[in-house]
Amino acid sequence: MCRFVVWIFLCFAATALFLTRSVLAGDVTCSGIVPMRHRNDVISIKDFGGVGDGKTLNTKAFRAAIYRIEHLRRRGGTLLYIPPGVYLTESFNLTSHMTLYLSKDAVIRATQDTGSWPLIAPLPSYGRGRELPGGRYMSFIHADGVHDVIITGENGTIDGQGEVWWNMWRQRTLQFTRPNLIELINSRNIIISNVIFKDSPFWNIHPVYCRNVVVQFVTILAPFDSPNTDGIDPDSSSNVCIEDSYISTGDDLIAVKSGWDEYGIAYGRPSSGITIRRITGSSPFAGIAVGSETSGGVQNVFAEHINLYNMGVGIHLKTDIGRGGVIRNITVSNVYMEKARTGIKIAGNVGDHPDDNFNPNALPVVKGVVIRDVWGVDILQPGSIIGLKNSPFTGICLSKINLHGKIKPGTAPWKCSDVSGGAVGVSPWPCSELTSPGQTGSCSSFI
Ligand SMILES: *[C@@H]1O[C@H](CO)[C@@H](O)[C@H](O)[C@H]1NC(C)=O
Ligand SMILES: *[C@@H]1O[C@H](CO)[C@@H](O)[C@H](O)[C@H]1NC(C)=O
Ligand SMILES: *[C@@H]1O[C@H](CO)[C@@H](O)[C@H](O)[C@H]1NC(C)=O
Repeated sequence: MCRFVVWIFLCFAATALFLTRSVLAGDVTCSGIVPMRHRNDVISIKDFGGVGDGKTLNTKAFRAAIYRIEHLRRRGGTLLYIPPGVYLTESFNLTSHMTLYLSKDAVIRATQDTGSWPLIAPLPSYGRGRELPGGRYMSFIHADGVHDVIITGENGTIDGQGEVWWNMWRQRTLQFTRPNLIELINSRNIIISNVIFKDSPFWNIHPVYCRNVVVQFVTILAPFDSPNTDGIDPDSSSNVCIEDSYISTGDDLIAVKSGWDEYGIAYGRPSSGITIRRITGSSPFAGIAVGSETSGGVQNVFAEHINLYNMGVGIHLKTDIGRGGVIRNITVSNVYMEKARTGIKIAGNVGDHPDDNFNPNALPVVKGVVIRDVWGVDILQPGSIIGLKNSPFTGICLSKINLHGKIKPGTAPWKCSDVSGGAVGVSPWPCSELTSPGQTGSCSSFI
């Protein structure tokens, strides 16, 4: 009898724990930000002459299908179905009220004929291409000024075949900035879910000047040595929610941005309301990053339940003199990292300017950053927080952080300068800037 009572008790306790955990962690989702729409009107790329043999160029088929969606304007929008097969194509534009649906085993593959790639104007908040002056190559899948767009399906693949572009970068033969795999400009109410992104020429998913964007259940893959293949870069955008995804690329997994130096300051468009949760991945650069292009400001970023393996830097906030912009109210919590060069890095000296016309008096402001519940093993350097002499970072709060590994002999685990804030339960013990009397325990009073 007694054993039975104990068993019941344990069972109740386990159930309660399970419910609490799923309410706290598992059940919070991006749903509700953008309604998932059902489309009654369905067309197939095959209806427009699409051939999935991996050789035939399907540019005309994609453009014709999307022209049909744009001009026939069926009530409730149209779903463009991509059946199994490999559909080679040049870049194409999306339109409003459409779903691009990739079936299982469907691949939309970018041509490697870089000579035919269209050029478009630089983004005003960058003033030039990110890599080279002048225009830039249009993204493989492109959308400008659209709304109500869904890219989804049964985990089909969008393949950028980026190798030719990486080689042009390596050999310094690029004439303009490489294309993103998907760029959404000035758009709203976008869902990207259940798709695999592979071998992007440059950044993978780039929503810029957008609002209400959901990215969930995606897989993003590019080799470790592929240059600048960032996973997801919300840029001068608001209300962006990214969750339940696996990202392994050659650059930052997720980097929140808002324009570059004098161009970004003049354009003045911040990123705000960015939610990131349940992301797993690997990269030689950063896991969760803010920057380095933050000239329009970045605020209200919340990232939680992040698992990182084989990283350059786990959590990285980065900016520089000339950037301007206010980075504030950034929270990153519940991070597990295994094998990283640096666990946590906040830096005001990353360099990298568009030209010599940046304003040396445009100092960035970094304030109200909470990093809590971080567990790391095999971490070479736990932390580095280097503020600016004339614009010290303030309200930097570290709480319940354990970052362990073989620290280089003779080096301090934490490097800090021009920073103030607090630290509670941080191991190894952080720098005196964060732990002097009056600082410790003050974590709750920032932001
Ligand atoms: C696609 O969009 C770009 C940029 O908005 C535009 O320059 C180009 O003409 C469009 N291409 C087609 C085929 O509509
Ligand atoms: C697609 O991938 C996601 C994320 O990895 C996974 O949760 C989902 O079950 C997959 N769906 C299908 C239809 O395979
Ligand atoms: C800070 O950001 C969170 C979202 O991460 C938001 O809910 C909260 O209202 C923001 N706080 C302030 C003071 O803006």
